[in-house]
Amino acid sequence: MFAPAPQRRTHNLSTPIDRMLAPVHRWIWRNRERRVQKLLRFGETETDGGRDLLRAAEVTADPLLRRLYLVHAADEQRHGQLFRRRAASLLRGAPADAQPWPGEGWIAPGGHGLDDLDVGSESDDTMLAFLHVAERSAASRFAVYRDVMQFDPATRGIFDDILRDEMFHMNYTLTQLVRVSPERHRPRLWRARLSRLWKAYLRVASALAGVIGTVFLTVQYFVVLPLFAWLAKRTGAREPIGWIAIAPERNQATSREY
Ligand SMILES: [Fe+2]
Ligand SMILES: [Fe+2]
Repeated sequence: MFAPAPQRRTHNLSTPIDRMLAPVHRWIWRNRERRVQKLLRFGETETDGGRDLLRAAEVTADPLLRRLYLVHAADEQRHGQLFRRRAASLLRGAPADAQPWPGEGWIAPGGHGLDDLDVGSESDDTMLAFLHVAERSAASRFAVYRDVMQFDPATRGIFDDILRDEMFHMNYTLTQLVRVSPERHRPRLWRARLSRLWKAYLRVASALAGVIGTVFLTVQYFVVLPLFAWLAKRTGAREPIGWIAIAPERNQATSREY
């Protein structure tokens, strides 16, 4: 449908931050279990993104955008299938008791993050701005994944394949945004970028809050609780052992309830 872009054009897609994090990404992807989990998660994100694009094609009044959204939705559906199939073939050789990696939620999801979007309430320009920012981010991340994946040529090939589609998505969304909103496309893009940044901050902040909560509860359990246990034990040691005689004024016949 669309001619694949030459590989050299996908080389400068990654942002400096993603390039800086390349060793972290390499470490994450090198582990087979983590790779399976990430691929499954990507598969889900891409398929969800495809569904949101179908909804966007339904609600837009622009015939050209409708056609492009439908092509885009089919691409995302295909990406989801590619990720899931690769995860399934890796899973066949993985141990059954693989545990999810606890740091998974810290780093932004590698896909498009369209799940945060209420498609029905977006106008054409805000939708295109959000899509462009999300596609650019996905292309940047996928370019780094492809580059660090020398140890798994099959998965690397999938990222390389998908990257070509992401470049098309990134470019058409910007071209269409300029077409539908020639005056206000820059503010729309900045709004989409800031909204994405805010969501990234919330994601990191909630993960950090989880870690801080765990540290505080652990300190309470091992430092504060033993102190209370020691005080209770000391008070208990001062109590006389066995039956205690009741004072005569309290030791009357049980003729009434109190
Ligand atoms: Fe995709
Ligand atoms: Fe995409």
